[in-house]
Amino acid sequence: MSDSASQWLLEQIRANSGLASLWCLDEHAQSDDLPIDPTLNVITNRWDQAARARHAGLNTQFSDFDFSPWADASLDRVFYRVSKEKPVVHHVINEAGRILKPGGELVLCGHKAEGAKTYIEKASAYLGQPQKAKKISQHYTARLRRAERLSQPLDDSDYTTPRRIFTENDIAFFSKPGLFGWQKRDKGSALLWEVAAPRLQCSGAASLLDLGCGYGYLALMTHWLPLQRRVLTDNNAAALAMAAHNAEYNGIAAEVIGADCGDNITDTFDAVLCNPPFHQGFSVSGDLTDRFLGSARSHLTSAGRAWFVVNRFIPLEQKARGVFAHADVLADRDGFKVVELRP
Ligand SMILES: C[S@@+](CC[C@H](N)C(=O)[O-])C[C@H]1O[C@@H](n2cnc3c(N)ncnc32)[C@H](O)[C@@H]1O
Repeated sequence: MSDSASQWLLEQIRANSGLASLWCLDEHAQSDDLPIDPTLNVITNRWDQAARARHAGLNTQFSDFDFSPWADASLDRVFYRVSKEKPVVHHVINEAGRILKPGGELVLCGHKAEGAKTYIEKASAYLGQPQKAKKISQHYTARLRRAERLSQPLDDSDYTTPRRIFTENDIAFFSKPGLFGWQKRDKGSALLWEVAAPRLQCSGAASLLDLGCGYGYLALMTHWLPLQRRVLTDNNAAALAMAAHNAEYNGIAAEVIGADCGDNITDTFDAVLCNPPFHQGFSVSGDLTDRFLGSARSHLTSAGRAWFVVNRFIPLEQKARGVFAHADVLADRDGFKVVELRP
C-alpha cells in the first residue's frame, strides 16, 4: 500500500516520460503499478524495492545512495519522497543538485511531520532559486529548479563515512547514518547474544545465518567460534556496506548478501540469529515478523536452532506455532525476550 506523498510523486513521474530522470526510492511503500519508462532510472537503498523496480523493467541501481554513476549536470529531473533520517535526506538533496542540469528540476515531497517543509526550503536555497512548498492535504510538495550555480550544500553529517562506534571482545564495530539505530549497540541484540552465545557454542554449529544483520553485530560476535560459514543478510544497502566493512576490518570470514528476508539464499544453516525489525505504528510489522520466522525455518537444517529477540509484547511463540515444533522463551528482561526455535 502506498502513502499519499509517494502517490503524488508517482503521478509526477508518470507525467514526465521522455526526460532523463532519476527516482530516488527508499523504504516507503509503493503502489504495485510502477511506471514503465525507459528514460527513468531508479536508485534505491532497499533490496526489495530494487527487485520490484527491476521487475517493472526500470533501469535500477541498488546502493547506499551512491550517485557516482551519474555525472555532474547530466539529468533533467530528480524525484524524491523524503526519507526518515535527516542525513540521508540532506545527502540525496546535495547529490541531486550536483547531477541536475542547470534548469533541471528536483521534484520533492514528504509529510508535514517528517519536516518536508523545512527540507524544501533548504533544498530551494541550495539549488539557488528560492521557491515555496505547496501543501496538498498532509504533505508538502515542490518542483525546485536548479540555478546555474549551486549555493552552500546541506549538512549531511558526513553521510558516506563509516565511524567506529564501540569495541566489544576486541571487535571494532563501525556504523554510519542510514542504518537502523546506527549510533549504538541494540539492547535487544546484546541480550540475544548474551543468552544465545553459550547455546550456540554447545550446539557445535558449523554454519550460521544472521537474518537482518544491520552492521553485523550478532554474526561478528561469533568470531571465536569454530564456524565454517557465516552468512549475513539485510535488505538495506547501508547495513550491508557496514557489515562487509566490519567483517573485513576485523579479519572475520563472512559472506554478506543483499536479500529481502533472505529470499534469495537457498542454503540451510545449523543456526540462525535474528533481531527482526519492529516499527511501532507500522501495520506491516506483524507481517514482517511472520516473514522472518518463515525465513528462519526454511533456512534451518532439521537439527538446527534459531534464536530471536523481540519486544516482549510481540507474541512470537504464538506466531511460531505451525512454523516451528518448539518455541521456548529463554529470557524475558528489560522489555525484550529471547526465544529459541527448533523445527
Ligand atoms: C532491529 S535491526 C537488527 C540489526 C542487527 N541484527 C543488530 O543486531 O544490530 C533489524 C534489521 O532488519 C533489517 N531489515 C528490515 N527489513 C528487512 C527485510 N525485509 N529483509 C532483510 N532485512 C530487513 C533492517 O535493515 C535492520 O538492519
